[in-house]
Amino acid sequence: MRVKLCSSPGRWIMLRRMRIGQANTRKTQKEPEMKTTRRFYLSTAAALGFAALLATPSQLVAQNTVAIDSDDIGGVVTGQNGPEAGVWVIAETTDLPTRYAKMVVTDDQGRYVVPDLPKGKYKVWVRGYGLVDSPKVDGEPGKQLNLRAVPAPNDAAAAQYYPAIHWYTMMRIPGADQFGQARGGIPQGVKQIDYLNLLKNNGCVGCHQLGTKATRTIPAFFGTDSKDAWMKRVQAGQAGELMVTILAGQLAAAPIPYLAEWTDRVAAGELPSTKPARPQGLERNVVVTTWDWADEKHYLHDLVSTDRRNPTVNGYGPVYGQPEYSMGFMPILDPKTNTADMYKAPIRDPDMHENLGPTHAAREKALGPSAYWGEEKIWEAYFNNHNSMLDEKGRVWMAASFRDEKNQPAYCKDPNHPSAKLFQVPVSGRQLTVYDPKTKKYDFVDVCFTTHHLNFAYDANNTLWTSSGGGGGVVGWVNVKKWDETHDPAQSVGWTPLIVDTSGDGKRGEYTEPGRPQEPGKDMRLGQVIYAVMVNPKDGSVWGTVRNNPGAIVRINPGSNPPETMLTEVYNVPMPGFGPRGGDIDSNGVVWVSLGSGHMGSFDRSKCKGPLNGLTATGNHCPEGWAFHKYPGPGFAGIGDNSAESSYYSWVDQHDTFGMGKDVPISTANLTDGLVALGKDGKMVSLRVPYPMGFFAKGLDGRIDDPNAGWKGRGLWTSSGDRAPWQVEGGKGMKPMAVHFQLRPDPLAH
Ligand code: HEC
Repeated sequence: MRVKLCSSPGRWIMLRRMRIGQANTRKTQKEPEMKTTRRFYLSTAAALGFAALLATPSQLVAQNTVAIDSDDIGGVVTGQNGPEAGVWVIAETTDLPTRYAKMVVTDDQGRYVVPDLPKGKYKVWVRGYGLVDSPKVDGEPGKQLNLRAVPAPNDAAAAQYYPAIHWYTMMRIPGADQFGQARGGIPQGVKQIDYLNLLKNNGCVGCHQLGTKATRTIPAFFGTDSKDAWMKRVQAGQAGELMVTILAGQLAAAPIPYLAEWTDRVAAGELPSTKPARPQGLERNVVVTTWDWADEKHYLHDLVSTDRRNPTVNGYGPVYGQPEYSMGFMPILDPKTNTADMYKAPIRDPDMHENLGPTHAAREKALGPSAYWGEEKIWEAYFNNHNSMLDEKGRVWMAASFRDEKNQPAYCKDPNHPSAKLFQVPVSGRQLTVYDPKTKKYDFVDVCFTTHHLNFAYDANNTLWTSSGGGGGVVGWVNVKKWDETHDPAQSVGWTPLIVDTSGDGKRGEYTEPGRPQEPGKDMRLGQVIYAVMVNPKDGSVWGTVRNNPGAIVRINPGSNPPETMLTEVYNVPMPGFGPRGGDIDSNGVVWVSLGSGHMGSFDRSKCKGPLNGLTATGNHCPEGWAFHKYPGPGFAGIGDNSAESSYYSWVDQHDTFGMGKDVPISTANLTDGLVALGKDGKMVSLRVPYPMGFFAKGLDGRIDDPNAGWKGRGLWTSSGDRAPWQVEGGKGMKPMAVHFQLRPDPLAH
């Protein structure tokens, strides 16, 4: 395997030149449709009088066709009743180094433009709600292509294109009376919100969609008895044990009859009772580009494209994928050359073992056979890179492992180390590996804590903060300035447990341990582990999400002399919200989180009325700081107004990399095939990947490639992050994708 980081940008530059040089190509189109248009015009011209004849031929053409450049495909989509508005046109090619597809939405007159296509032969077709896919026809950049939409012959055919949420919400949820029973069924301690949380973003839909064709139907491989088949299918593969832990362990198999009844009804032909709406307004201005990367057996967790503090870093550059437990390679996509390469990930210690088994989110062996891979061990997890960030130099900082978790460097226990003196961490499940694309070299930062998500601070030390995700109870950091100067982790690495100032003296003092009763005059240590981590650009405080139910967010104030001065505040999520997973912060310090309740939650600390420390400041002291914004999409029946959307992560577009304005929060929309942004007007805007169905992301970022290039020089980057790429449309053989979302000023801009 080799890295191709500096592939020539020649092709891309050539395309741009063509655009400039051929600004008038739209006037010389020779498509049959145009001839018709012209004939029509000329035959009616006499009636319209001389004024019309003064128009130049190019103006005539522009009236009934769509203006395109030499690297666009455009035309009109017509259906049974005339122009087809709000449907997708998908252009796909296999002529490039990796499979490439671009998707746009038609405007209210059925017109479309797929802009800026690399040279190649494309298959082009129409997909939309209420339709079935139109036949794939040949298209080429620079040519007009009018398309015919094909109406769905019946509801069943139309429903095959609905996002998974419409199917998943057919599943019944046990009524409130089923919970808290002394015996039988659902374990006593499990509340309805726990059940939902586990069947949504903090459980099942934390790894893949439910409701896709692959999950709402049962492969023959698992037999014909649906309950039995469900017991078997959730044991499939190296994540089988994790599925069973939720279903059989946490929920005592209570969901099995509900899952089985759901798939029985689907098999009997029952259809979703809700239908998706076609894209409206801004949603029609979205351009989605996808590239395959990695391979069909391996999944990715995330990708990274830039430094979130300055999103012009690495403009037009490669984007880097994170394979988590799936493989020892880092996929790199060069969007300039449409090349996807794999880079062999470095492991420092020769005796390093795989990160599989208990305490990990994947196992050495399949618990049961997979309908796709049998008993094959398909994942390999030495590298285990969960998430990455770029720094201002374009270096890739990876939460990855390179040594045994117990093989802690000596400073982790050194009583003179400022952090070890206060609190020791016995294991580090993941450390930090740094890759420098300029030198193609990597470095290992041997931290004492486990890393999971990470984010840079806006300070002179260039501090990198990490959450520990699965365990450890600390937040850790690297003073990157110091690291660059010394290459000594003992001097540049620190961490702290989460100490809440319940004594109310504004200082860190003696504290009670997690689970112990509070004591007046003492602080309190939270046994919580933070999942997402983010830094408030305004005051340098570090925030994290806590994945409990109802769950919480925490604010860690480093103070003047960290770690000694570090204090934590905790803010529980009040109803109707529950179940935080990923989150981020805007430039005013408002925190945005994906919630299992089907909301994007926001927390504004400046709205808090009561004291933020002292005996009562233990989580429930600022419900007034919270606000909830319901995600689009249908909800489960019988549990009140809700959205079944099960968002994994939220990210805030602090620098307007997308085009909806600064500080727009964007969540992954894991049951509706894309992302969802909360506009300034309070309306949710769905950003959907219509093809292949089943797109599922675990994070995103946004990059400004060229601040002077308008919408073309900016966009969001994300990767498909579901654990089983073979569950998406197309089935076995489908690969993860890198995805770019751009927002045009109108649906025809090119
Ligand atoms: C840790 C990640 C993870 C979690 C959590 C998870 N799954 Fe899965 N699931 C997988 C993977 C990986 C596969 C693919 C297995 C295979 O096909 O080899 C899968 C496959 C499936 C399938 C398809 C099996 C088939 O081929 O018929 C279903 C259905 C499913 N999961 C349901 C669930 C449910 C229900 C839950 C929650 C109780 C859940 N999953 C939680 C990772 C996960």
